[in-house]
Formats: sequence, structure tokens, C-alpha cells
Amino acid sequence: MNTADFIYQGTKKSIEKASFTCQTPSNIALVKYWGKSDPQIPKNASISFTLNHCHTKTTIAFTKVDKSTTITFDLYFEGKKKEDFKPKISKFFERIASYCPYLYEYEMVIHSENSFPHSSGIASSASGMSAIAMCIMNLEKELTPDAEIDYIHKKASFLARLGSGSASRSIEGPLVVWGKHPNIPESSDLYGVKFPFKTHPIFNEYQDTVLLVDKGEKQVSSTVGHNLMHDHPFATQRFKQANENLEKLSTILQNGNIKDFIQLVESEALTLHAMMLTSNPYFILMKPNTLEIINAIWKYREETDSNVCFTLDAGANVHVLYPKEEKQKVEKFLKEKMLKYCQKNHYICDNAGFGAQTF
Ligand code: DP6
Repeated sequence: MNTADFIYQGTKKSIEKASFTCQTPSNIALVKYWGKSDPQIPKNASISFTLNHCHTKTTIAFTKVDKSTTITFDLYFEGKKKEDFKPKISKFFERIASYCPYLYEYEMVIHSENSFPHSSGIASSASGMSAIAMCIMNLEKELTPDAEIDYIHKKASFLARLGSGSASRSIEGPLVVWGKHPNIPESSDLYGVKFPFKTHPIFNEYQDTVLLVDKGEKQVSSTVGHNLMHDHPFATQRFKQANENLEKLSTILQNGNIKDFIQLVESEALTLHAMMLTSNPYFILMKPNTLEIINAIWKYREETDSNVCFTLDAGANVHVLYPKEEKQKVEKFLKEKMLKYCQKNHYICDNAGFGAQTF
């Protein structure tokens, strides 16, 4: 499908009032998206586990008004009016307006809340933007009842991507690919698709314990980081490597070679941060405790037969990944040895899940 396929074709149906509540999760990338061109087109394909417990729940109440030249909305976050979040959402609405022109005919009241603490350093843009996109697509589904569910999901992912690239991977689960890749049928730069092959059972309900090393605001936003890839000396090689890694990971996810999985996922995380270390200007998002945790995980793996590994987002927190059957042992290790590296001993237990829910 291409961009034109997502332009709303309109019906005669008119809806005066409607309200939809959708919940969408965050996701954790295994092969990372880092570098993009306009409009939100990734420089390489990426793949992530959709999470389960870390989610945003959003309700949008739509009320029909006279057609306006701007999209009007009020925004509440965890019950309180949030003027400072509005510019980002306004920009998102501007970007999606040509695909959803009916938005000019509605006033929206948006209520949003996260399941994870607001200042936990967990990326809320993926879950936040995808939840808004899903609410809008619920309205579109009412306006065009014949639309197929597959189209609704694709367009929700397409819209979410225009808000935040990684949000395109939060509509479905448990594994989503975003970015065109020759070996992933149907993959696209415009939206995420479910990983199309049968995965080995070792990856069922894969566990992700997020160790909250630093709960503060990031010093460098993802947007700035992505932009620094434009003149990055290693950019071309990195984009090529990411696409190769996705191909390797596709094989691993099917054959269940967990040792290869660990090696590839950890290398991806460190490469992401290596791009930050070698950009101009350079920056470091890891903290001393990020490295303490990484070293402790390596030591634990050396001393036991564990298949635990780590990955990182654009921040200091560590996502600890492991098969479900190791849950008891790994949780014991994390509780006994890793909590001292977490801010206020805080961590979040999550696992791979299935994406958006509408209530
Ligand atoms: C490091 O999706 O937050 O988490 O498109 O500018 O909103 P924008 O960026 P964002 O970037 C996420 C980068 C990452 C890797 C990943 O999730 O693939």
C-alpha cells in the first residue's frame, strides 16, 4: 500500500457524537531505528517486541462542530489539563490532517493516562501516539463501517508513525517490523507489520524487566539523536548493518538459536549507543549504573546456564530480556543483585504482548 491509500475517501454517514477508549503498549526494539528522513521514513528496518503492561490508555470524545480550518482539542493527562503536551499533539494532528480530514469537523477532548510512572524514563511517545491513532481510527471505522480490520490496523500504524516512528510498532504484537526489508514480505516504511514467520516457542511471552536506572528527562531527545545521523560518519554502514541484522534475527526467531539472539540483541543495543558516542556533537545517555548492570548480566551468564540478555533504548534504563521458563531464576537474580543500581529500587516487569485494545 502507498501513501495515497490512506487518504480518507469520505462517506455520507454523519456522526454527531462519539467516544472511544483505546489502550496501546510501549515496545522494545531488538534491531533499532535510529535515523530517518521526512516524513518519518526510517533509514533502516527495525523490529520490536510489543510490550504488555507498559501502556497508555486514551479516551477521545468527539463532538461534531462546524467545519473549521484548524483541528481543535483539549488535552488532559492523568486528570489534569496539560497545555505543555499540546504543541506536540497539534503537530501530530497537522501531519495526519490530510489523511483524516474529518478531524476538522470535530472538537476533541482527550484524556490520557500511562500505566507506568510519568517520569520513569520509559518512552511514552510510542504508546501515547499509537493510542491517539487508534481512537481516531475507531471514529473512522464508524464513518466507514465497511473498512476491513486489517486496513484499520495498517492506517492506525501509519498515523502513529507520523507522531513518533516507534509508535508504528505498537498497534499489533508480539513482534512487529517497521521499514521496508527485502526478506520480510509486506514490510513497509509507512507502517508496521506483524513478523510474518512462525517463531520458535522459546520466544513466546518473552520477558522484559525494565531496570529504572535514571527516571529523569533525557538530556538529548530521540528527535535530536535521529537528526545527528544525517551527517554521521558511520551512518551508511550502520543502516546496512541494521538491515543485515534484521535478516539474521528473522532466522534466529524462527530457529530458536538463543545464543545468537543474545549476541545480536546486545550488539544492536551497544551499536545504538555507539552512534551517540560518535555523533557530532557526541553525547552519552548511559549512566555508571547502566554499565554496572551490563557487566553483572555478563558475569551471571558466565556463571550460570542462563539465557538472560539486555537491550537499551535511547536512555540509561536497562531492558533485561529472558525466556519465560527462566522467569523465576532471573527475577531472583535481579531482585538480589540489580535493585541497588535502580533509582529508588524501582523496576517494571513486563512481557511481549499483543498490541492495541479498544474498550
Ligand atoms: C532508540 O520513535 O522515539 O527507541 O520518530 O523521533 O519520535 P521519533 O523517535 P522515536 O525513536 C526511537 C528510537 C529507539 C529505537 C527504536 O525504538 O527502534
